[in-house]
Amino acid sequence: MGCFKPIGFFCSVFCFAVFVCILLLQSEAEASELYYDFVLKETNFTKLCSTKSALVVNGSFPGPVITARKGDTVYVNVHNEGTYGVTIHWHGIKQPRNPWFDGPEYITQCPIQPGTNFTYTVLLSSEEGTLFWHAHSDWTRATVHGAFVILPAENTTYPFPEPDHEEVLVFSSWYKEDVAILMDEALKYGGLTTLSDSYAINGQPGDFYECSNETTFRLAVDHGSTYLLRLVSSVQNTDMFFAIADHNLTLVGVDGNYVKPVVTNYLMITPGETMDILVTATQPPGHYYMLISPYFDGQADDFDKSVTSAIFQYNGNYTPTSSPIYPDHIPGFYDIDAARNFDRQLKSLASPEHPANVPQHITTRMFIALSISMLRCPNDTCDGPDGNRLASAMNNITFANPSIDVLQAYYRNISGYFEADFPDKPPTLFNFTSDDLMTDNVTLSDQGTRVKMLNYNETVEIVFQGTNVMNSGENHPVHLHGFKFYVVGAGVGNFDNVTDPLTYNLIDPPELNTFPVPKDGWATIRFVADNPGVWFMHCHYDRHMSWGMNTAFIVRNGDTEETSVRPPPDYMPSCGENSIYGGAEQSMFQLEE
Ligand code: C2O
Ligand code: CU
Repeated sequence: MGCFKPIGFFCSVFCFAVFVCILLLQSEAEASELYYDFVLKETNFTKLCSTKSALVVNGSFPGPVITARKGDTVYVNVHNEGTYGVTIHWHGIKQPRNPWFDGPEYITQCPIQPGTNFTYTVLLSSEEGTLFWHAHSDWTRATVHGAFVILPAENTTYPFPEPDHEEVLVFSSWYKEDVAILMDEALKYGGLTTLSDSYAINGQPGDFYECSNETTFRLAVDHGSTYLLRLVSSVQNTDMFFAIADHNLTLVGVDGNYVKPVVTNYLMITPGETMDILVTATQPPGHYYMLISPYFDGQADDFDKSVTSAIFQYNGNYTPTSSPIYPDHIPGFYDIDAARNFDRQLKSLASPEHPANVPQHITTRMFIALSISMLRCPNDTCDGPDGNRLASAMNNITFANPSIDVLQAYYRNISGYFEADFPDKPPTLFNFTSDDLMTDNVTLSDQGTRVKMLNYNETVEIVFQGTNVMNSGENHPVHLHGFKFYVVGAGVGNFDNVTDPLTYNLIDPPELNTFPVPKDGWATIRFVADNPGVWFMHCHYDRHMSWGMNTAFIVRNGDTEETSVRPPPDYMPSCGENSIYGGAEQSMFQLEE
């Protein structure tokens, strides 16, 4: 018997030591490595009474949610079992020194060809909150997208009371026809792009469309509980107002960053934006509509005006009203003030745990005019005005995709694929917001693959000026890869470089990756170019992106290994083949070598 005592004693000491070790390990909060497999495959879906096949990930629309913690590394092996080339982008994730795995086609890689696979390494750093992933080739984003949830690091928590439950709400567009064919047709003839047939919340169009009310998305809620709703807009071309009948929303995060809480009864979300909101179920038990309703500030009348619904549905024993309660405060399609008032309220937390490090001293200034434009067509045979091809431009340059990616051309020193001379200002200055911008000297843009070079650690300020060229003034949700930026100011009209900078918020501006530059107005962003690599910047409306409202930054290496691009992976998809769906022709917006 006696001999057990020492063993028991030894065991307690040993166990105690192990216990202490575990505690120590936990407080060090090791980042984890996570592995996902994405199988891209054509899959049949029936919506709006009609069936089509669409390319999706792992059989689902929207695709799977990736969940990680701040600082983790996520490996995603993408198997392309579809019929055309695809790339995937990790929207809002900075990928420090890791442009190889950022994803935009012809910027950092060529498409993953059918029958092949490619494993992305996604490095999380300062992101925390909700972001998303999506295809970044042609218009494949329409059906290839999903949420990317980044929880606080181990042993840290939200800067707000822990919610009782969390739910992801992904907003999408739905087309009855094959999106790849619709896009190819539109780009071939140079006219307007086809409108969507509906929007969707978590893949479901909702009660106000034919053949849809059986599958409307329902969120079952408990009275008194608080829900963290993670909103992702992967809508193709339209901004959305969101509201829940009779419930206030508390906005606590935007684009994977916390914000000072905003209590509101609606919000506006553009393609490419993500938001975290808290909603407490405090109303009488019932069924309440959650709506996304389009917002449009341009002059044209052609957008999909349908409204998509989901249901915020209380658990318990009660008799609900015959149809769910409808929000009485969701803004109308053209309510520009409602949209602007919402965006004006965004402020970063700027707390000790979540500081705002707004660059105060600027070394590189740019002024970028955003325009809808036209390219001449041989014999005026295109579908745009006067037989021209509809296009769009930044500083009058309509971006053309090169035939091998910019990153490869830059890193391997292969000349002839891009020019490093993207202009710091528009070629001519004119009254950008005038109603009279219809003449060739302002409507015609130049095509080119022109990028902006930045030295490591430059502090960059960009004033974006929305223009009304061709009476096409509307907001443009500009998105930048590889960085988060501070939106230090925004306003209407032509930017005034004397008075407008006086209005800048340099204390707690929101830190974002996408921001709507107001219609016929301006917005100023600041960021530090501390991420070497090649980083795309574009309007997140897919129609404007494929018309060329894009450019890229090349940030040079710093002096040390830690400030230089990581070594290239052993394998990148080859650039040998043209990825455009359906055949041999290249897109009008892709340059031949
Ligand atoms: Cu959400 Cu360049 O993309
Ligand atoms: Cu745009």
